[in-house]
Order: sequence, then structure tokens, then C-alpha cells
Amino acid sequence: MSINTEKFYSILASNMKASAIREILKIIQSSNVISLAGGMPDPATFPTEEINEVIKQILAKNSARALQYSSTEGLTELREFILNWLAEAKEKAGLDNIMITSGSQQGLDLVSKALLNPGDTLIVELPSYLAALNAFRSYGGEMVGIPMDDEGMKIDILEETLTKLKNDGKKVKFIYTISNFQNPAGVTMSLARRKRILEVAKKFEILILEDNPYDKLRFEGEPIPSIYSLDNEGYVISLGTFSKILCPGLRLAWILGNKEIIEKIVIMKQATDLCTTILNQLIAYEYCRQNDIDKNIESNVEIYRRKRNTMLEALDKYFPTEATWTKPEGGFFVFVTLPEYIDVDEMFPEAIKEKVAYVSGSLFFANGKGKNTMRLSFCYPSEEDIEEGIKRLGRVIKKKIKN
Ligand SMILES: Cc1ncc(COP(=O)(O)O)c(C=O)c1O
Repeated sequence: MSINTEKFYSILASNMKASAIREILKIIQSSNVISLAGGMPDPATFPTEEINEVIKQILAKNSARALQYSSTEGLTELREFILNWLAEAKEKAGLDNIMITSGSQQGLDLVSKALLNPGDTLIVELPSYLAALNAFRSYGGEMVGIPMDDEGMKIDILEETLTKLKNDGKKVKFIYTISNFQNPAGVTMSLARRKRILEVAKKFEILILEDNPYDKLRFEGEPIPSIYSLDNEGYVISLGTFSKILCPGLRLAWILGNKEIIEKIVIMKQATDLCTTILNQLIAYEYCRQNDIDKNIESNVEIYRRKRNTMLEALDKYFPTEATWTKPEGGFFVFVTLPEYIDVDEMFPEAIKEKVAYVSGSLFFANGKGKNTMRLSFCYPSEEDIEEGIKRLGRVIKKKIKN
């Protein structure tokens, strides 16, 4: 008989569950289901030839450095490139204000590790990115959700909630927001709300963690300054990533923030992985030095814009009038709300029978609500599959509508 491992786990590990999305992806990969579930970039957007070229050069000329350990802060040239490239960082950030991480997911983990004690409260959007919620949970963070509308988080409710939490003696550490083309809701926070959230954070002396992976994937409308760029007092920690604009396989992202916080997060990272792989950092740096990454992003935006349009048109055509959905100006996701009486978890096996998959919205709600909502991604499937997938899903939902 093999050993019972349960008794060895920490309380936090015992409470952690495998991500439901990973489980769904396993089912989908093993059958010919059209997946509107995962948030993977379209591989057609990867600059494979250019990356192949820089890998060959790096290994031929610079292998002693590329295969070595490196600094925890990250490759200086890459950090300098990012600082010069990002409008929000150009004026106000120096090398002390930026570090490289192994994906933004590691950024979320390290920020939590640096800031959260078990039982500390943090604010999240309703709904919010599942893997961030799991990172916060894994350090014992207690999440309080704030609803959103078309302009993002409702700041009046945020202020009321923070007042109440303060009166109850709760320690709130930070507000987590995905300000552009939110995952899962597809909503973008308006400029007025960005200014307000910063005022509120300052009033209550709370940090803001702005997660901005989709920033450069705007299909229409004017870019809005990030909350990070509006802040001059070091209240905002900003996460950016190469995952959605270059390729996720390099696992390269960055954190921008005030010097003291970056220093602390660097210490946390030393205990996690010593450094992000230098080979991948050199690949990204050489790619960016020798090519025009903005041009590549522009052509990627074309691909995703077409896919978004295909999904919105198909939703209009095949979904019942009782359903509503967000109309994202960028990013990867559309969020659908069905009548209250439809439980999308119960409906899931029927969708799989029709060979289409989605992610149940309730997974993204820190308060367990959202049973009648679902996230649909248009990033990975082909336009034909998006149209066919929405058609199949429309059929499944129509059977649930009460007359
Ligand atoms: C909101 C959000 N934050 C962070 C991440 C993680 O990105 P990375 O690949 O950089 O770890 C994702 C990926 O889907 C995301 O949607």
C-alpha cells in the first residue's frame, strides 16, 4: 500500500484545487470539440522564423552567457528596451523600477508572496482572472469582490466597501484590476474611473496591482492611459507580459513599480527560481532589437480583430435574444450573461455532446456568483470554428430558454 500523502500538506496546499480550466482543457484536447474555452494566443501570431534566426545567432556567438545563470532583476538590455518602448514607463521609470519575471503569473505570485499575510484582505473585480485569484488564495489572501459595468470596477461601491472594511478593522493590502479588455469580462476601465481608483487608493493608503497583458491588443478606439501612468507616488504596481504579443512559450514578463517594492519582490524571486532563463531573455531582446515588434503586434491585432468580429456577428445570428454579451474593443474574451434560471455548469455536458466548450463564468467570481455567465475566447480557434462553435452553443442554450 502506498503512503497517504494528505497529512503532509500545508493548510494552504490542502485547500488548493486543480484549476477547473486545466481540467476542461484536458477533456477538450482529447476529443474534436471546438474550444471557446482556453485563452491561448493564435500560433499564427508567433514570429517563428525571426525567433529561429536569433536563437541560432545567440547560441553561435553568445552561448557562454546564454546558458549561464543571470541576475534576478533580469537582463539589463531587455529591461532598458521595455522602459524605452512603453510610453507609460519612458518618462518616470528607471532600471530600479523594473524587473523581469517568468510570465506575469509569476508576477502575481511574487507580489502576493511579498505583500500578503494569511487573512489579509484584497479587492478584486467581479469577475476576475481565475489564476490570479488562485495565486492570492495560495497565500491566504481573502478576496472581496467589487462589481463592474461597461466602465470597469464601480468605484462608488469600492469606496463604500473600503470604508466598511476599515470600520471592521480589516487590513486591505491591494486592489487587483485588469484595466484593459479584462479577463474574463472583456471590459475596459474608463479614464474617469482610473483617476478615481487612484484617488481612493491614496485616501485609504492601499496599493493597486494593475495587470495589463492585453494593453497593446486594441482593435478600435483610443488607448487610455494606464493607472500606473497616472500615479506619481508609487501606489501602482504594473504587470506586463510578452505572452500575448510575442509568444507565451518564452515565459517572459515584467513588473514596474516603486523601487522599494521591486527590491523586495526581487528578494522573493531569489527564493523562487533565482532568475528567469537568460536564454529566453536574450531571445526576446535580440528579437526586439533586430525586428519591429510594434509592426508584428499590428498584424496580430488584425488577426484578433477579425476573430472578434466573427464571434460578435455569430452571437447576433445564433444566440437567443435573452442572452447579452460584452463587446470588447481588444483582448481575447467575450463574456456572456444568460437568464438567471440557466446554470451553465449543468449545461456543460450538453455543450460537450454538441462538441463545443466554454468556461463557466462562476469560476471567475470570488463571491461564487455568476452561475448564468460564461467566458468565450476568440483568440485560438479559426474563424470557421468560431462561427460553428457559436452556432452549436446557440442551439444548446436555446433548448434551455423558457417561453
Ligand atoms: C489577466 C491575466 N494576467 C496574467 C496572465 C498570465 O500571463 P503570462 O503568460 O505572462 O504568465 C494572463 C494569461 O492569460 C491573464 O489573462
